[in-house]
Amino acid sequence: MSVFADLFAQADARAAERLHSVRDARRVARRRLPAVVFDYIDGAADDELTMRRNEAAFAGVTFRQKAAVGRIVPSLRTSVVGREIDLPILLAPCGLVRLMHADGAAGVARAAASRGTVSVLSTVAGSPVEVVAPASSTPLWFQVYAAGGLPEADALCDRAAAVGVEALVVTVDTPALGNRERDVRHGVSPPLRVDARNAAPLGAQVLMRPRWAAQLAATGVRLSRRGAGPPGHGNGLLSSVASPFSWEDVAHLRKRWAGPLLVKGLLSGEDARRAVDAGASGVVVSNHGGRQLDGAPATLDALPDVVAAVGSYADVLVDGGIRRGAHVVAALAMGARAVLVGRPYLFGLAAAGERGVERILDILDAEMRRTMTLMGCPAVTDLGPEWLAAPVH
Ligand SMILES: Cc1cc2nc3c(=O)[nH]c(=O)nc-3n(C[C@H](O)[C@H](O)[C@H](O)COP(=O)(O)O)c2cc1C
Repeated sequence: MSVFADLFAQADARAAERLHSVRDARRVARRRLPAVVFDYIDGAADDELTMRRNEAAFAGVTFRQKAAVGRIVPSLRTSVVGREIDLPILLAPCGLVRLMHADGAAGVARAAASRGTVSVLSTVAGSPVEVVAPASSTPLWFQVYAAGGLPEADALCDRAAAVGVEALVVTVDTPALGNRERDVRHGVSPPLRVDARNAAPLGAQVLMRPRWAAQLAATGVRLSRRGAGPPGHGNGLLSSVASPFSWEDVAHLRKRWAGPLLVKGLLSGEDARRAVDAGASGVVVSNHGGRQLDGAPATLDALPDVVAAVGSYADVLVDGGIRRGAHVVAALAMGARAVLVGRPYLFGLAAAGERGVERILDILDAEMRRTMTLMGCPAVTDLGPEWLAAPVH
């Protein structure tokens, strides 16, 4: 490790220790990142209604607690589509992770593995699956976008299979890219594309964040005219992530992919049934963190319908707005098998690299354990609607 890399690593370790909540990580990420990158993470579609709804829905949850249950050490272990995990929190697929910190998607995958959980690599994370999969000591999952249609999706599947990816996640809520107005205002829509008009203001933002720029420059990442990211797979693809998959396409991928397949980005029992009919072993109730259809329901509100429709046949996961361990407990009590988080770990990554992602997982883990201890609930596998005092609204 070079002297500079060593110094950066020590600074990250210190920064990670100073994080005590997801909110802390967001605050530090805002300080460390150029505004254009922070807003790419933090923003959502149109008026950002759905993003706010996702978070607000958790305020409607009321836990039921059992008193005087004696000493308990809650178990967070569970399994998702056959994979045993120590913590029911997976890291959601996110684009352009490479721009948030030099540790990039490989650092994210290592952090997930170190905490006994799973990281889902996005097609457009900015690092090829052939680089990220070997970095992780536990099998990686891979999320597929294919703007080029099924031949492209097939090729991605084959590449993922060749490097031992365990599960495929097909995102079905992106037939077109949502209108992320913060990106538009920075002049980088499709996200983070640099051209003659926006180069000067973006350059000024980068100059104000020399530490971020130096760390990324050391790993060869450039904001380029083709789009953000390193050369090769994942570079500048954000203009073309729109992937209008049909249920027939999902069934086709199901036949091609030997391992578990999950469908991500549905919000109704009806669509969940279609996904299971197409062969999905799991579904992710998701509105893409509010980045696609603004006005879509909060995922926590959509969860019961999906659990009722397919919960007995498939693993139901949920993401969107989870910022506390208590939110994970609420989602599990409502029937989710596990959750995914997006922005929380991206903020952790931006704030303190791989150590920051680990720290976010540790914070959520500790919050879950405390919540469950206070509720008197010994294991996540025991959570169910009986732990909720009132319907969620
Ligand atoms: C910066 C960013 C990039 C994202 N990129 C992708 C992506 O490439 N593929 C995908 O399926 N979802 C993507 N998502 C959505 C996440 O996988 C996840 O559904 C969402 O972040 C969950 O909401 P949360 O951020 O409130 O946890 C992205 C989200 C963010 C914040």
